[in-house]
Amino acid sequence: MCGIVGYIGGRTAWPIIVGGLQRLEYRGYDSAGIAVVDDGQIRINKCRGKVSDLRSLVRGQNISGTIGIGHTRWATHGEPNDINAHPHMSMNGKFVVVHNGIIENYRTIKAQLEQKGYAFRSQTDTEVLANLIENIYLEKQISPESAIKAALSISVGAYGLGIICTDQPDRLFAARKGSPLAVGIGQGEYFIASDATPIVEYTDQLVYLEDEQVAVMTTDGISITDLKDTPFDPIITNVDFGTEGIDKGGFDHFMLKEIYEQPNSLADTMRGRIIEQTGTINLSGINEIMPKLVGVNRIIIVACGTSYHAGLVGEYLFEQFARINVEVEYASEFRYRDPIISPEDVVIAISQSGETADTLAAIRLAKQKGATILGICNVVGSSIARETHAGMYTHAGPEIGVASTKAFTSQVVALTMMAILLGRKRGILDDKTYNELTTELRRTPELISEVLKDNDHIREVSRAYQLAQNAIYLGRGYLYPVALEGALKLKEISYIHAEGYPAAEMKHGPIALIDNCMPVFALATHDKHYDKILSNIQEVKARKGQVIAIVSRGDTEIARIADYVIEIPECHEALMPMIAVVPLQLISYHIAVMRGCNVDQPRNLAKSVTVE
Ligand code: M6R
Repeated sequence: MCGIVGYIGGRTAWPIIVGGLQRLEYRGYDSAGIAVVDDGQIRINKCRGKVSDLRSLVRGQNISGTIGIGHTRWATHGEPNDINAHPHMSMNGKFVVVHNGIIENYRTIKAQLEQKGYAFRSQTDTEVLANLIENIYLEKQISPESAIKAALSISVGAYGLGIICTDQPDRLFAARKGSPLAVGIGQGEYFIASDATPIVEYTDQLVYLEDEQVAVMTTDGISITDLKDTPFDPIITNVDFGTEGIDKGGFDHFMLKEIYEQPNSLADTMRGRIIEQTGTINLSGINEIMPKLVGVNRIIIVACGTSYHAGLVGEYLFEQFARINVEVEYASEFRYRDPIISPEDVVIAISQSGETADTLAAIRLAKQKGATILGICNVVGSSIARETHAGMYTHAGPEIGVASTKAFTSQVVALTMMAILLGRKRGILDDKTYNELTTELRRTPELISEVLKDNDHIREVSRAYQLAQNAIYLGRGYLYPVALEGALKLKEISYIHAEGYPAAEMKHGPIALIDNCMPVFALATHDKHYDKILSNIQEVKARKGQVIAIVSRGDTEIARIADYVIEIPECHEALMPMIAVVPLQLISYHIAVMRGCNVDQPRNLAKSVTVE
């Protein structure tokens, strides 16, 4: 999704802003732009394409101003082109705006402004907002800050904003509603950005603006007020990752780096939560609502994409270990379905970014109906994390690749700890099983490291399927959500059409697709479904399909019939999703690289989906 970076201070602004936009590239975008106050004039440069194109445009122009705003745009209103790219200047040149989000009533506002003689260059809602602010400012003769607040009060929708005004060229304005915006606090300088990644290079002190807050920054200080002018003290959060967390660290792509980080990210999610000496689980983030959780009859999990797949694993976990009825819902469906929710329910929202618009809307709905809301988020201080009653951070570190990898395994381990703890507290798990499970859980980082050692072999297997046009992924039980996740990974980064299925469903339709060109990735480890999935593999082979089987180490039976096998270490079947997903992540990665795809920024996709 779109990204914002802004700067005010003593340094030349444009390299900081363009560098920051480069850090935000992972979010997905189609054009980029920058506006800098230079010698009292606002100089705007923008173009369709990459931030590197913008850099070439700006470099050599001798722009030395120390206040500016920049943007990477992911088109919502109007095609990706130079004109629709941000920043947008108001008709009389008073305000320049960069904007994330959508102003839903922009058509009505535009029509009213047109009647007043306003003309528009772009097709964007952002230009409408810039003109609305200017029109109020000129008509009412009020301060720029008051004009911004008045305009936002009549704008419906979501916004993260960076604004400069030519009449107050020593100020940087920022505002948010629904679309995240962080302010970095330096020494006599401030940074704004849509997430922490462009800021951590300069400061670890962040303020996350709340909905309907407006920040006004000068080199002397910052004021934060809401739309009704109520003042707020900035609440400073210390971010615990530096730039090393957001660099490729010697890997060719962020995705590969993040796949390889999983032994550590998994350990980080468990750190301090499984007590070393006793092996017991302590989840301080949910202690407060533990009595409610122990007595709960139904958990509803809401999420999107990969996080939804983690939620499906959660369904098996809570049912098996805690005997709690679980429903897993796509947040986008749940929010519009008038779902039946009562104050007795617990809703768990899972989100890497903590900003996914549909998931956020789903929890707001559930909250209105009185449910207790728990969050499992990776990004500290994110909107979902702040709007839930309790929850757990996954502490997986920044995930930059658009394809979610380490976030998935960390979400699953968080859900696993929760399910085991609830099972214990509800008296379902005895001491022995509880201890065995926590011991096994602590081994998962080591087991993932073992899978990663097989990367060369996995790359060779992938080579055989780099030209595939379709693929099917099959799994049963705990490995069914992993099949879905494997298919999602392949389609989103290599653009190969892929479907995940519960293996037994194959004969109800998809089997018609099997021929000698169809690769079938079968998750067939030693668990209670082994004989059944073996039969499914035989059904595929009988129709000349190509079988790539993910099997337990030492398996010989499937090796005899499959075209390729990838061996993974054995573990408790409930923990297998975290291990079995890793070869599927690597297969997608290698195939995408071999096909020349942009692995970290796949076409049409955004890292953080802040629009519905
Ligand atoms: O930030 P979230 O976990 O809420 O994001 C949800 C999905 O947008 C995300 O998982 C998406 O499906 C990924 N591209 C999958 O790799």
